Amino acid sequence: MKIFLDTADVAEIREYAASGLVDGVTTNPSLAAKTGRDYVESLKEICEVVPGAVSAEVLATDYDGMMKEAAVFTKIAKNIAVKVPLTWDGLKACAALSKQGTMVNVTLCFSPVQAMMAAKAGASFISPFIGRVDDIGEDGMGLIHDIRAIYDNYDFKTEILAASVRHVMHVRESALAGADVATIPTSVFKALLNHPLTDKGLAAFMADAKKGGVVIKG
Ligand code: E4P
Repeated sequence: MKIFLDTADVAEIREYAASGLVDGVTTNPSLAAKTGRDYVESLKEICEVVPGAVSAEVLATDYDGMMKEAAVFTKIAKNIAVKVPLTWDGLKACAALSKQGTMVNVTLCFSPVQAMMAAKAGASFISPFIGRVDDIGEDGMGLIHDIRAIYDNYDFKTEILAASVRHVMHVRESALAGADVATIPTSVFKALLNHPLTDKGLAAFMADAKKGGVVIKG
């Protein structure tokens, strides 16, 4: 499964991308607002830091406006994925952009049928928001399972990008459900390797090596 960072903070992205384990980035207007920076300038820098898709979300809600903003985004770099909302205008823009060879991430997906429609419109990525579904007492992970089944039934190539990830269990469950990508906040990225037995085991190995005089001669 690919791991994307869900942030528009360039410094954070640089820090975590140095691990070599960040495949892409997703941004949205709320994340861009948090940085206080020019959105397009931030996107330029992000596209230089990560090799994979960098989602840039339109602000327009009508087709013509979305296409104009998409033209600004696609000039930034080849790895831009234009992010559009799951609306009729959004899917119309998705179809037009996909035909031009532009990657499109369809966002704000909350139902399996919405995901099917995005795939029919040629989306490269569909973003089901699992955390926000859980927040209203529904089954976020069930949404990923249902989309996987529909995409496999009809051999849709759209990648399932699990979004609105809140904790490591969401990453685990998304991987088990067959999501192609999980986009995660940096707090969750940092926690991916946490396990008390890893810490305990490492401490014991180091202590034993010291006690027994084990060294690695170069
Ligand atoms: C990513 O593409 C989404 O915009 C993001 O994951 C939404 O997450 P949130 O529900 O935590 O705002």
